[in-house]
Amino acid sequence: MTSSPRIAVLASGRGSNLAALLAARARGELPVEFVLVGSDKAGAGALRLAEAAGIPTLALDPRSYPDRRAFDLDLFARIKASGADWLVLAGFMRVIDAEALRPWVGRVINIHPSLLPKYRGLHTHRRALEAGDAEHGASVHFVTAELDGGPVIAQARLPIEAGDDEQRLAQRLLPLEHRLLPAVLGLLVGGRLQWRDDAAHYAGRVLSTPLLLGAHGLE
Ligand code: GAR
Repeated sequence: MTSSPRIAVLASGRGSNLAALLAARARGELPVEFVLVGSDKAGAGALRLAEAAGIPTLALDPRSYPDRRAFDLDLFARIKASGADWLVLAGFMRVIDAEALRPWVGRVINIHPSLLPKYRGLHTHRRALEAGDAEHGASVHFVTAELDGGPVIAQARLPIEAGDDEQRLAQRLLPLEHRLLPAVLGLLVGGRLQWRDDAAHYAGRVLSTPLLLGAHGLE
């Protein structure tokens, strides 16, 4: 029997995207083993979810390290020690140091609440509203040293409605995020999605435009 792909997850907040990953696994849709959930916030809801699911957790306080690099090198050493094959950033709100990330490039994905390359960084919902955009969305991308800048794998799109404010838009987007992230992780661990020559490849070809989340999954 071959063992399941081993997944580590980093999250800074409530952990609803982590919950979506755990639910997909529980439904039998994501054949993986979660080996670690780590956070830079000891109070993160994601850690409580992981504890309840019996997954090893790790909370590291960035303030106990001299600088970002020292924190990230320690964090990634611990992720390596967990035996993880892949790392998922599910609401991890920190920029990752390039040196710490280097050995992992191609094995780390991140979910970001915008239609990248639009609105890297923070306050994405507000910025989409202020720009008068007709649509908003979420992206899952391979993580590189450039903030929210790695190749985009897949997106979920959502029309902006007249009554949307920042909070409502974020709330309406979240259920799409919860389908998008497990779907992309499934492609990755299943081998249909690959990182080669600094690019995302899907079904053996360079992925030139992101996959789109439709009614029946990624298209
Ligand atoms: C999600 O909306 C995710 O897209 C976003 O943080 C939220 C985490 O929610 N990520 C980023 O902004 C990364 N730059 P969750 O803790 O409920 O999963």
